[in-house]
Amino acid sequence: MQTTFIALVALLGVCSAAVVQHQLIHRESPKFQMMRRGEWGAYVQHKAALRDANPSVYANVPQNVNDFGDFEYLGNITIGTPGQQFLVVLDTGSANLWVPGPSCDGSCKGKTEFDATKSTTFVKNGKAWSIQYGSGNAKGYLGQDTVAFGGKADQQLAVPKTTFGIATHISSDFKNDAAEGILGLAFTSLAVDHVVPPLINAMNQGLLDANLFTVWLEHKGSANDVGGGVFTYGAVDTTNCGPVIAYQPLSSATYWQFVATSFKLGSYTNTKNYQVISDTGTSFLGGPKAVIAGLAQALGATYHSDDDSYYVPCSKNIGTLDITIGGNVYSIQPVNYIVDVGMGDTCVFAAFAFNNFGFGPAWILGDPFIRQYCNIQDMGNQKIGFAPSLQKN
Ligand SMILES: *[C@@H]1O[C@H](CO)[C@@H](O)[C@H](O)[C@H]1NC(C)=O
Repeated sequence: MQTTFIALVALLGVCSAAVVQHQLIHRESPKFQMMRRGEWGAYVQHKAALRDANPSVYANVPQNVNDFGDFEYLGNITIGTPGQQFLVVLDTGSANLWVPGPSCDGSCKGKTEFDATKSTTFVKNGKAWSIQYGSGNAKGYLGQDTVAFGGKADQQLAVPKTTFGIATHISSDFKNDAAEGILGLAFTSLAVDHVVPPLINAMNQGLLDANLFTVWLEHKGSANDVGGGVFTYGAVDTTNCGPVIAYQPLSSATYWQFVATSFKLGSYTNTKNYQVISDTGTSFLGGPKAVIAGLAQALGATYHSDDDSYYVPCSKNIGTLDITIGGNVYSIQPVNYIVDVGMGDTCVFAAFAFNNFGFGPAWILGDPFIRQYCNIQDMGNQKIGFAPSLQKN
């Protein structure tokens, strides 16, 4: 009887489709910690020196996208049968999953290492992979196994036959980080080696109720290791998000990329058709130098060239930073774009300038935007929706 029932469910397929909520933890971005310790300037220079010394290696690495030093939101996943648990960065600005492996050099010290010999569902692949980040690289080989979103103790979304990276080396600045790996949530075309990302794999196998997920990031300031939001796979999150304001078609399904037409703060407005991306893996808003300078000037923020950052009194309030997308204005409150990194009355304007050299996105809408608006990331229809984020504090 039991067997018949299971067979029937498998046949119907759709019946097994699911909605799964993935709890996140927030920890302070290493970037803020470095700013507070006065080390950020040296880190920026270290990255610039790496780029200058290896121009061919960095030619295709967009500056500041996917920077190891800038992740804030982590969640548990398991890999294999039985599941081995890892704490990973949930990053909508990249598209590969990787975790440390048993043959990793000293760079993985202290982190959980995936042991393929202990999994009954592991399938060997062995192909080499390597991902270049702004501050170093991660490399290793590929394997295939069941990857489940959520921790061992949670309700999970299990995705069989998922290919992922098993690291033999990770960038030195990831070494002392609580995160053990990175789970990319962008599209296959962005993935190194075009490895199908776990959530796209789930969609392709019909495992989701709807082929979308909702990102809700909680505002946590500098709080560490506290509940930090929820990713809802397969449904719009109506608990933590208000009504959807609008959907915007993706202009490119590589990153979560779309068009924004204006950026305004106080007396400054810049209007132009910009390619922008939504990226949970970046703690700031990134944009063209002249526009960031214009916004900063309107705010009364001061640029410090030694650490390439804009500082502003924490009490400063000239109203919302307004971004126009598809004719709708999305207003970011000061609490989300003026960040208290623990330097007394001095806060940081959460914006940085970067040069896309004429290709790729011109803007990165990182956590300040996503904490203000839930993102409904519709893979199936290649569009992204925005809804007010209901914050508890
Ligand atoms: C991840 O798992 C660890 C150990 O099981 C647990 O203590 C922690 O709360 C989990 N984190 C999240 C965000 O669920």
